[in-house]
Amino acid sequence: MWLSEIMLQQTQVRVVVPYFERFVAALPDVASLAAAPPDDVLALWSGLGYYARARNLHAAARACVERHGGELPRDFDALVALPGIGRSTAGAILAQAWGDRFPILDGNVKRVLCRYHGVAGWPGQPKVEKALWEIARSHLPAQRLADYTQAQMDFGATLCTRHDPACVLCPLQSGCAALATGRVTELPTPKPG
Ligand code: ADE
Ligand code: SF4
Repeated sequence: MWLSEIMLQQTQVRVVVPYFERFVAALPDVASLAAAPPDDVLALWSGLGYYARARNLHAAARACVERHGGELPRDFDALVALPGIGRSTAGAILAQAWGDRFPILDGNVKRVLCRYHGVAGWPGQPKVEKALWEIARSHLPAQRLADYTQAQMDFGATLCTRHDPACVLCPLQSGCAALATGRVTELPTPKPG
């Protein structure tokens, strides 16, 4: 789950799949990743881009061996303290691996929430981002956190897309503020400047 979330941060699912399969075949657990030479890890990443992700992953695996008995911790604060894991990735890992009740807020989810709730202002602004985290938290279901989390990512990637949202097919259309007020193409607000 950890590896897939890191690979999927900036790369599409169909590109990630073969890299993911090669990676877990070569380095199947935290201990083998931590012990691998840096060149081996980079070779497995070669072609995926954003190589800081691979260096951070490797450093995080070593930190897990040193601090967490060779396992990825099931703890939000311990996860975000590891290199390459931010709040959204930590939430995605905890929700999908364990069903723990944490929100996510990646680019897709920001777009969906801005539209559905009619939130104006660039989502990169701290004030707007804080409001979106609150909204994301308020929507969390009591159960099936793994399915809920994956569904959000898939919803943003396939239905409420950046350029061509399928509002006519959307199961959320009756509650969508952007659709009701004709602002689907304006939201989320682009970065100023
Ligand atoms: N991007 C980040 N995490 C993802 C996931 N679990 N599924 C699809 N896209 C993603
Ligand atoms: Fe997104 Fe359109 Fe659905 Fe609103 S109605 S959530 S803009 S796809």
